[in-house]
Amino acid sequence: MEFYSKLFAQSLKNPQKADSFNATILLLMEKIPANIKHEIEKLVKDLNCHCYRYYVLDSPVISDEEYDKSYRHLKELEEKYHYVLPDSPTRRVGAPPLDKFEKVKHTEPMLSLDNAFSHDEVREFDERVKRFLKTEENVEYTVEPKYDGLAMELTYKNGILSKASTRGDGYEGEDVTVNIKTIKAVPLKIEEAEAPEELDIRGEVYMDLREFEALNREREREGEPAFANPRNAAAGSVRQLDSSITARRKLHLACYGVGAVKGINFKSQWEFITWLKKARFPVPAIIKLVRGIEEAIDVIKEIEQKRNAFPFETDGAVIKVNDFELQKLLGIKTREPRWATAYKFPAHQGVTKISEIIASVGRTGAITPVAFLEPVRIGGVTVSRSTLHNWDEIDRKDIRVGDTVVVERAGDVIPHIVAVIKDKRTGKEKHFKPPAKCPVCGSAVEREEGEVAFRCIGLNCPAQVQNRIGHFASRAAMDIEGLGEKNVELLYSKGLIKHFVDIYKLKKEDLLELPRFAEKSAQNLIDAVEKSKHTTLSRFLYSLGIIHVGEYAAKLLAKNFENIEDLYHVTPERITGIKQMGEKIAESISRFFNDPENLHTLKTLKSLGVKIANPDFTKAQEGKRPLEGLTFVVTGALSVPRNEVEELIEKMGGHASGSVSKKTDYLVVGEEPGSKLQKAQSLEVKIISYDELMEMIKI
Ligand code: IVH
Repeated sequence: MEFYSKLFAQSLKNPQKADSFNATILLLMEKIPANIKHEIEKLVKDLNCHCYRYYVLDSPVISDEEYDKSYRHLKELEEKYHYVLPDSPTRRVGAPPLDKFEKVKHTEPMLSLDNAFSHDEVREFDERVKRFLKTEENVEYTVEPKYDGLAMELTYKNGILSKASTRGDGYEGEDVTVNIKTIKAVPLKIEEAEAPEELDIRGEVYMDLREFEALNREREREGEPAFANPRNAAAGSVRQLDSSITARRKLHLACYGVGAVKGINFKSQWEFITWLKKARFPVPAIIKLVRGIEEAIDVIKEIEQKRNAFPFETDGAVIKVNDFELQKLLGIKTREPRWATAYKFPAHQGVTKISEIIASVGRTGAITPVAFLEPVRIGGVTVSRSTLHNWDEIDRKDIRVGDTVVVERAGDVIPHIVAVIKDKRTGKEKHFKPPAKCPVCGSAVEREEGEVAFRCIGLNCPAQVQNRIGHFASRAAMDIEGLGEKNVELLYSKGLIKHFVDIYKLKKEDLLELPRFAEKSAQNLIDAVEKSKHTTLSRFLYSLGIIHVGEYAAKLLAKNFENIEDLYHVTPERITGIKQMGEKIAESISRFFNDPENLHTLKTLKSLGVKIANPDFTKAQEGKRPLEGLTFVVTGALSVPRNEVEELIEKMGGHASGSVSKKTDYLVVGEEPGSKLQKAQSLEVKIISYDELMEMIKI
């Protein structure tokens, strides 16, 4: 059984090879009871169907709890019987983080699109098409929204998703398979349709506007820079070396194109889209087949009219010649096909006045200038605020209170000021200087060298405290539903929460006395607080709001420290010893865990019932076999007993041998090494110190 477990563990570590591993396991075992095999297969099928209903059709038929229950049951069975189907939903998580993305060559280049900025330019496109095809007849086109996200190619081999790659320069992209597998709308296997030998499907990965706004609110609270638009947010989420971060970002997919194919023949874009729908792939929200360019323009108008009601950002409509034979005839001019064009909607812009600029204080004390605008409707949204990012930006654009400005929402939900209309100045406009004192608590303000942000240094500044509590409770941190900005403000103002520790002292009776709470809402909050007590070390570390420790750094720490106590009194050197951790962050972490007050807070949280599991540590240790295939000999006196060094080598996948031979890859030498060193030198074996060995096993 142990042998199978090893194979199974290997299959999890090596997702690319997982299928062949699993096939081997099955061959070796052939012992899974038929009813269990059947149950696993049914669970996978059902869960995938629910996933499709939820993420693609947006019409679930079971509750989240029911889904979770079946998912857990499936996971238990898979672990017990070591039988994981290639399209099991459990494969969407759990790949170890990567060092870098591998490059992937696209079989067929991923092209870009020509643009049309007016209906007349769309008509000119049609004329070019007809001229090229030497026809006077109306051409068939498909029209669909242009998604503002990240172009992706999904490669299916015999119906199984084998690779997902970014567009890159069009010819070569990056392998983001493990990340894309976390997107629930991406089928891991082609079902309900004939699966060809090979099929490259192109589409756009995007983040919908609600998710984008929620993510940015969270980032602002934690003092991380907000994403400028959903496209950047989607790209930033896909290009994460740690796929568990991608998994938390709730991305979507819309498929609109085909690349290389083998074993199936599509005649037109419409036929392809129809096939995609049948095979349960998400397709654009609107896609229409029309004859002639005037009908295409009608659809463009329809999409533009619905533009503000879509849950995603769209900056145009794409018009494509439907027939693939005609597409081939039309061909490509440099990097753009002659058979398609993108009609670009005008940018969402408006002109308004800055009525006030305020300095807003974040959780780390960072002070950000925010402009209040005279309300103006831009692209269906009333805009009355705009972040100015920092004072350098104010200086660069010479923005003053009272200025008339051009505001734009070009793919952005948070509007930004494009320019000041200087002709409209009356002379009464006022410069907005960085505050000398914190506008909330009156403490001193400092600007660290090399930083653009000014910071309030007051530890008890109410703005900072409230933002710290909000951050602690936020979704990626302790995830306490119902403890958003408004409720934090209320509970803080009533003196019920002065520090995030107080969250765990809240009583239902206290809440019931407050204006915004009734029996049910009070109970819900208490339940959410209770639920948050079971957390993971990475979430917990992130929630503490240690400066520079975002989600990713918190994960890295959790992979390297088993318990929170192991971090107490940590030195900066110990942190910089972790790959990817620099000096600035190490200083900050060390300072935090050497502060008696912080250590007291951590102990109090524990005594109030917060329980911290650390799955990241176990997983990282399992996946950590950097010395795989290498043979070491240890000699001389080291700072650590030799048997411990040898054990470590074995644990990291290497082989520790007692004598030097031609097969030895490295000799680890300490003080007074003796004859082994000479032998190693004569055999030209690489000689390293204990420190160099430690360097080799860093994760
Ligand atoms: S078709 C050769 N359809 O726009 C045509 N592209 O500017 C290939 N995009 O890289 C693309 N929505 O990332 C197509 N419905 C849609 C699209 C779309 C967004 C993106 C895609 C492409 C870029 C070209």
